[in-house]
Amino acid sequence: MIKVQNLTKFYGKTAAIDGISFQVNKGEIVGFLGPNGAGKSTTMKILTCFLPPTSGEAEVCGFSIFQNSMEIKKRIGYLPENPPLYKEMKVRSYLEFVANLKGVPFSQVKSFTNEAIEKCNLQSYSEFEIFKLSKGYKQRVGLAQALIHKPELLILDEPTSGLDPTQIHEVRNLITSLAGKHTILLSTHILPEVSMTCEKVVIINKGKIAACDSVENLTRSFALTYTLKVRGENTEKLISELHQIPEVSSVDLETNETLKIKLKEDRETAVKISNCAFKNEFLLLELKKEAASLEEVFIKLVFTE
Ligand SMILES: Nc1ncnc2c1ncn2[C@@H]1O[C@H](COP(=O)(O)OP(=O)(O)OP(=O)(O)O)[C@@H](O)[C@H]1O
Ligand SMILES: [Mg+2]
Repeated sequence: MIKVQNLTKFYGKTAAIDGISFQVNKGEIVGFLGPNGAGKSTTMKILTCFLPPTSGEAEVCGFSIFQNSMEIKKRIGYLPENPPLYKEMKVRSYLEFVANLKGVPFSQVKSFTNEAIEKCNLQSYSEFEIFKLSKGYKQRVGLAQALIHKPELLILDEPTSGLDPTQIHEVRNLITSLAGKHTILLSTHILPEVSMTCEKVVIINKGKIAACDSVENLTRSFALTYTLKVRGENTEKLISELHQIPEVSSVDLETNETLKIKLKEDRETAVKISNCAFKNEFLLLELKKEAASLEEVFIKLVFTE
């Protein structure tokens, strides 16, 4: 659905994105993560054909951003960082206007508009002029205009920015409900939100791709905590010997049979841990690697280079 190859964008002499490549497949919900200034919005503007790249290529919905921008624009819904809303218009008229613009058949404009209003919980504000809305409600209108024509691909730049916790929850449910039928690329700074809604993440840092993988693979491969369940006599001796393993940073006794072992790094340490248990004549009941949180993965990739 999205194929990005070696995409670069220079603003003057600074590269906002620097040779990035990644892919989003049909039906996937992908979280696009990165610190402020990493290049998320720039990439999204390029993919939605609002900004030309300096070099590289991108294909969106099977069309090249260089040759078929009109075809792409028809097939996508885009929520920009700062949605350019016609602030003097009333919510409903604005959304009907967008529906017409996006090629929704005339007979369906009203029903599509109603659906978008419902999905974004704008029922009580549909006759309000947009400039009278609070920031969060403006964001909802932005989201409604992105969804209105039921596009196959949604590109959402921080969709929950400025929303209250209830609405964040609703937008999260809305995004999950679109799974399978729609493909979604969304940027956000709320990492638990990504864990809840996205199966895949692309992490960008200083204009370069730092990771592109499933949340499950990433959180597992970055895990540095083991739970060890053992039965035996001299737990104190076992703990002190576990400390001798060079990768081990701490060992905590959780119950009389369960130890939490934190590592500085993992170099086949599981084997060393189990060997240590055997050597001390402990019965090994369980040795399990805990998943890292997405926050831990993010911090490791972005802040420790
Ligand atoms: N119009 C512009 N002119 C010059 N530099 C720009 C312009 N737009 C963005 N940049 C620069 O490009 C880099 C990437 O910006 P971008 O807006 O893509 O980051 P972002 O990942 O979306 O950040 P945020 O999380 O703050 O939204 C930044 O260094 C930014 O200062
Ligand atoms: Mg941005």
